[in-house]
Amino acid sequence: MKFRKPLDVLLKEAAETGDGTLKRTLSSFNLVTLGIGAIIGAGLFSLTGLAAANNAGPAVTLSFIIGAIACAFAGLCYAEFASMIPIAGSAYTYSYATMGEFMAWIIGWDLVLEYALGAATVSISWSQYLIKFLHYFDLTIPPQLTMSPWETVTMADGTVVSGIMNIPAVVIIVLLSLLLIRGTRESAFVNNLLVVLKVAVVLVFIAVGWSHINPANHTPYIPENTGEFGHFGWSGVLRGAGVVFFAFIGFDAVSTAAQESKNPKKGMPIGIIGSLIICTILYVLFSHVMTGIANYKEFAGSAAPVAVAIAKTPYAWLQESIIVAILAGYTSVILVMLMGQSRIFYTMAKDGLLPKTFASLHSKFQTPHKSNILFAVFISLFSAFVPVHVVGEMVSIGTLFAFILVCIGVMVMRKTDPNIPRAFRTPWVPFVPVAGIVICFAMMISLPLDTWLRLAIWMAIGLILYYTYGKKHSIIRNEHKVVLPVDPPKPELE
Ligand code: ALA
Repeated sequence: MKFRKPLDVLLKEAAETGDGTLKRTLSSFNLVTLGIGAIIGAGLFSLTGLAAANNAGPAVTLSFIIGAIACAFAGLCYAEFASMIPIAGSAYTYSYATMGEFMAWIIGWDLVLEYALGAATVSISWSQYLIKFLHYFDLTIPPQLTMSPWETVTMADGTVVSGIMNIPAVVIIVLLSLLLIRGTRESAFVNNLLVVLKVAVVLVFIAVGWSHINPANHTPYIPENTGEFGHFGWSGVLRGAGVVFFAFIGFDAVSTAAQESKNPKKGMPIGIIGSLIICTILYVLFSHVMTGIANYKEFAGSAAPVAVAIAKTPYAWLQESIIVAILAGYTSVILVMLMGQSRIFYTMAKDGLLPKTFASLHSKFQTPHKSNILFAVFISLFSAFVPVHVVGEMVSIGTLFAFILVCIGVMVMRKTDPNIPRAFRTPWVPFVPVAGIVICFAMMISLPLDTWLRLAIWMAIGLILYYTYGKKHSIIRNEHKVVLPVDPPKPELE
């Protein structure tokens, strides 16, 4: 039997106010900045150079456009759901209403990969840029304390040093978790400042870099394929889209703030689609300038490709500000990811699938502080002890899986609940969701086998938890048990 969470119950929960509920403090503007906060980060500042050098050359701009189209399909589906079911759980809640509790659990558990490990991935990159920043002040942190135990670095004297743990990454996770506990409004305020800073530097880079574009670097715009799939030519542009997909992850985090939005019906579509459009425009312009200032081959192997481009201009002073902006950018990504994660756990705990304690709000700050603390510890373990590429690929596979389920959910919901008011309707259904599913699945299968294996292990742990705890404590199931003898299940519970 499939246990779906009835839509009227969801809408009632979303409308609850007062003590014990999340506060509605976020305007549409806040939601757009929240989206930009989650989107612009390691993807733009690190992966653009790699995708240009290894896959697409200057046509990395086209890779960004393809990546954006793929995300737009899923984004349009997210926008319909988030405006119809404005509650904190995002894709988890949408699945609960459409495909039933089991699928909802699967997706909620899967979203930990996107949000928690997303925060871990970016915190590890953050730590690398912090080291660069400290160099300007002749400060160094012993390398053993900035890497996981699986990584090594060769020192100037030739000795090879192994990592112990990545302490800066843990510090940023803990600090931002504390900020989130302090309050959503405070966190949104800090996020707005960080977003303004990073967008300003991106704009300055585009503006001052434009006049230093050397047309020779853009010729040919799509370098000839080397004979191997994914190495330049059109296949390289496609592979590049898979690489830069990480740069778009985060727009869906807007939907996790639905219950804190002042007017979610209007704010959700604006926040999701608005942030996606703004970031796509910035990405295309930024990568066009970057590959115009320096030749794409020069970005090979560089952890800081933006610095390579700036070194070609007379604006050395931009180096420091760009590092500050990158640190700010990464900080806001981590902040929004941490916030999204705690909101999803909060919603799952409210439904009884996780211990109630994670649904309790702080008596003064009204934030899900226990979820914040749990994830500060959990994410810190990954930030401290796991290499960046391992967590990064898990983020991509987890996110793509979530996108597919949301696309399926929109089609299911159009059939099962066609008359529910939708403040925003996904256009061209079923074309848009089906295209979203196909593109996301294609990107999933391009990920390595061991990432699939890790996904399978993570999901197996989730299933054990569901059958030993979630299923037994599910509120919907327990209510259903009580009414069963006198009131047979209604069709929507089937
Ligand atoms: N889109 C985010 C980033 O690029 C996850 O850092």
